[in-house]
Amino acid sequence: ATHASTIPRNYASITPPYPTLIRNLEQVRDVLKRPLTLAEKVLYSHLHDPDKGLGNGGRIRGEAYLQLKPERVAMQDASAQMALLQFMSAGLTRCAVPTSIHCDHLIQASEGAKADLERSIVSNQEVFEFLESAARKYGIEFWRPGSGIIHQIVLENYAAPGMLMLGTDSHTPNAGGLGMLAIGVGGADAVDAMTGTPWELKAPQIVGVHLTGNLSGWATTKDLILHLAGKLTVRGGTGRIIEYFGPGVHSQSCTGLATIANMGAEVGATTSTFPYTSNMQSYLRSTGRGPVARAADEAAAQGFLSADEGAEYDEVIEINLSDLEPTINGPFTPDLATPLSKFGAFVTEQGWKDELSAGLIGSCTNSSYEDMTRVADLARQAKAVGLTTKIPFLCTPGSEQIRATMERDNVTSTLEDVGAVVLANACGPCIGQWKREDKKGEENAILTSFNRNFKSRNDGNRYTMNFLASPTIVTAMAFSGSLSFNPMTDSLTLESGKPFKFSPPSGQDLPSTGFTPGNTSFYPVPTPEPQPDTEIIIKKNSQRLELLEPFTSPFSHGNLELPPLKILMRVRGKCTTDHISAAGPWLKYKGHLTNISENLLITAVNDEGGDVNVAFDHEASGDATKTDTIPNVAKRLKARNQPWALVVDDNYGEGSAREHAALQPRFYGCNLIIARSFARIHETNLKKQGVLPLWFADKVDYSRISSGDVVETVGLADLLEGRPDAIIRLKVTNREGEIFEIPTKHTMSMDQIKWLRAGSALNYIRSQIQ
Ligand code: F3S
Repeated sequence: ATHASTIPRNYASITPPYPTLIRNLEQVRDVLKRPLTLAEKVLYSHLHDPDKGLGNGGRIRGEAYLQLKPERVAMQDASAQMALLQFMSAGLTRCAVPTSIHCDHLIQASEGAKADLERSIVSNQEVFEFLESAARKYGIEFWRPGSGIIHQIVLENYAAPGMLMLGTDSHTPNAGGLGMLAIGVGGADAVDAMTGTPWELKAPQIVGVHLTGNLSGWATTKDLILHLAGKLTVRGGTGRIIEYFGPGVHSQSCTGLATIANMGAEVGATTSTFPYTSNMQSYLRSTGRGPVARAADEAAAQGFLSADEGAEYDEVIEINLSDLEPTINGPFTPDLATPLSKFGAFVTEQGWKDELSAGLIGSCTNSSYEDMTRVADLARQAKAVGLTTKIPFLCTPGSEQIRATMERDNVTSTLEDVGAVVLANACGPCIGQWKREDKKGEENAILTSFNRNFKSRNDGNRYTMNFLASPTIVTAMAFSGSLSFNPMTDSLTLESGKPFKFSPPSGQDLPSTGFTPGNTSFYPVPTPEPQPDTEIIIKKNSQRLELLEPFTSPFSHGNLELPPLKILMRVRGKCTTDHISAAGPWLKYKGHLTNISENLLITAVNDEGGDVNVAFDHEASGDATKTDTIPNVAKRLKARNQPWALVVDDNYGEGSAREHAALQPRFYGCNLIIARSFARIHETNLKKQGVLPLWFADKVDYSRISSGDVVETVGLADLLEGRPDAIIRLKVTNREGEIFEIPTKHTMSMDQIKWLRAGSALNYIRSQIQ
């Protein structure tokens, strides 16, 4: 049966265009002539240019760069700010693909859903007003605070088998539970999809995970991914898609698969996916998407939604689900996996206090109906013998639909009966939005069903050890309050002195009467028409939001070489996007380029002297000192209208797709970065913002350029005139007046040359629509 039909839907916008995708795939097959994995099918059918996009075949995975056309974009409230500010400066009137915004990261947990939501709406009002007004102007679906967590809402409303989607959050792959490719990206990438610019991805390798056997008793899909994280480690999935296959996939619920896909992010995977199953079909129906299920059934019948017989993976991992036992991962890293049966001994060995201080369930990772009914089964068993949880026990529902269905089916009251506090439908403690009053600065252990457990993530206390487990293990252990309690084998002692042992939990993957949508005012009008007259609200003197001024092109005066550039500094060694634009307290300025730029390179090492956050201002005059912080010297150059360049080391900009790391130097007047080598994503981000990235042809030249030297490009004009094989040299005039030239290499494509010439990709897009 199809349920939840009271939710407004626009089926055309949530059903992948299967006939077109299948046709595209046929063109690709003509070139590749080999069996394909599911992930390849979804990727290649979304090529911008299916007939030419793969050249003449050859080696693709791990080597080729794909130009893709995602079908949808989802953004959370923190990262949506800069994405929208950039989108606005492109000057379009609507998004090229359906897009949604989700207010979930900025809600702080403290007393309980209602009070927390009201307080957080007040403290973040200007951000929410900005997002909502921009959504109205451009026809974006706006999910306001309280509606739920981005990934749960996407799974319930937008995800569909075979779809390709981008989301500005690392756990976007959660939607892979519905057999699609959902990829977490930075705002600049989302803007590519929103402006209809081809989105570039280095073709990932594909790891196959073959699932056989059956989960039993206490083991869940969470334990599968916790176990796999232990095997692969936090880097094992980098540059790879994890594709599951085999009979074990078909016995899992769709939401259980989503948990696995969600935590693929913990091993660094690009995303995870599964072949279409009958449980996915039931989930689509149960969430009111019968027409999507029917379309998917047809696409599956044509072989689109699973791997071809004989498809080859870059590596195959075998997992027998019957062998899996509950697993606990942590502390401080999600890949330190310990089977439950060995966890007590592990705690003793480490000399930790055998004490749990809080249990937290829910979040985007584990708040499905199945998770919650299994947990409620344990709560019911406990209540029947008069037990309540020994420690604070907090539950975050993933969405309004889950919250309302839990309430209707007495799951909430069952949890509250044993001491649970149900929080707002938002990220809350998972992202540190937890006003925790106890254990400040003290070593303590918490157990959560979340996905990440880096230091300080949940309560800001770096001594809090966060262990990750399935929701049922978290719940059972919350009744004991001890770290070494194993609910599978150990008993609790009742007041009467009698022992009590939990029976293995059982639940229901979908509600038999369907989901209830809950408060329908949370549901946006699907694919609303843009309202171009809407004024985007940015409070005067706001410290959190600032309109982006388009960057000026250095070539606007007819010159085709960069103006003479002063070298700001030579950066030594590792310089990740975190070094270039630090996170932590700076996150609140994500929508305010002037304010966030104050963190530019503040943890980078200056190769001249070896100090952190020190730069030299050789032209300092008056009261200014010759040595200052990096942002201060950059600001002084900007104030003098002196464009500048950076010399950097190997793999510059590794780490993430954070676009601030490219926007900030550009904002202060950087036009050129010369590297021993670049991390590819960051290099592309620099090009998008109009910064020219050049590679030393000979890495030893790195030390020949120093701060205060002046560099000029020679040969850039050839490139700008459309000759991608042009050789660019740098003419260096050092501080002693010596002049010499250095050869460089570049990776600019024809499109990227246009961006550079216009001053940024967004300037170029704007020039095209005018
Ligand atoms: Fe939110 Fe935590 Fe998921 S921050 S999106 S609940 S990983």
